[in-house]
Amino acid sequence: MNKRLVKKCLFPVAGYGTRFLPATKSMPKEMLPIVNKPLVQYGVEEAIEAGMTNCAMVTGRGKRAIADHFDISYELEKQISGTSKENFLSGIRRVLDQGIFTMVRQREMLGLGHAILTGEVLIGDQPFGVLLSDDLCINPERGVLNQMVSLYEEFSCSIVALQEVPMDQVNRYGIVSGNSLREGVIRIKEMVEKPEVGKAASNLAIIGRYILTPDIFEIIRHTEPGANGEIQLTDALNRQASKGGVIGYKFEGKRFDCGSVPGFVEATNYVYENIFER
Ligand code: G1P
Repeated sequence: MNKRLVKKCLFPVAGYGTRFLPATKSMPKEMLPIVNKPLVQYGVEEAIEAGMTNCAMVTGRGKRAIADHFDISYELEKQISGTSKENFLSGIRRVLDQGIFTMVRQREMLGLGHAILTGEVLIGDQPFGVLLSDDLCINPERGVLNQMVSLYEEFSCSIVALQEVPMDQVNRYGIVSGNSLREGVIRIKEMVEKPEVGKAASNLAIIGRYILTPDIFEIIRHTEPGANGEIQLTDALNRQASKGGVIGYKFEGKRFDCGSVPGFVEATNYVYENIFER
């Protein structure tokens, strides 16, 4: 019996992936493989390891391959059953045995905050994880979401994953400032989405892992478009932070920015050298 407090994880997977065109012309960017496994499966495995067996996907047009990936491929199963190739499917079979997958479509891409709000119908009134599969996080001992659920169990408020980034890259991220509570844990006072280089309060960037309390939905409903004209999750979280309701956590593990080509290649090399088994 899963006794952990956070049982659902939201996956915003509706984005276009323009940086990977033409590969992403008719294939979801979340299905791009790091060696032999699609990015989104790494994310789902991390969520399940953290006890979030209910995986809620906010998808969009052209993303059917994701729904198919988390379902049985009857023909494939029949074709390779009893052959030596069967073990190639064992990983995804395990995921299907453990997880429940629900989907809702985001009709318009109005920002990460809007994607999260679109997922409300699948989450309901309970704390939930959010995983951006572009950020591949690896910690073979204990996944990043798993680490964050323990912090949620301690603080009962929203938790965001943080990593220090080079000062000239702060404009790619949500950037936070706050007070240290202990090594690696801070109470966030303020967060700004994609500040200009030179104007950021710190180089502590939000990485695509969150535990959110469900009041975030009502806050997003009243959040105006911000950076890039999009409804930003960071702006909604900033409202929680102003009341002391957001903890930042410098996680243990490696992170690759698979939304960029260099990060994707780096992740591929790392996984091939260190994790891939055949
Ligand atoms: C999103 C968030 C940003 C965060 C980043 C992490 O931005 O809005 O706050 O730092 O993910 O990857 P995006 O990468 O979607 O522009």
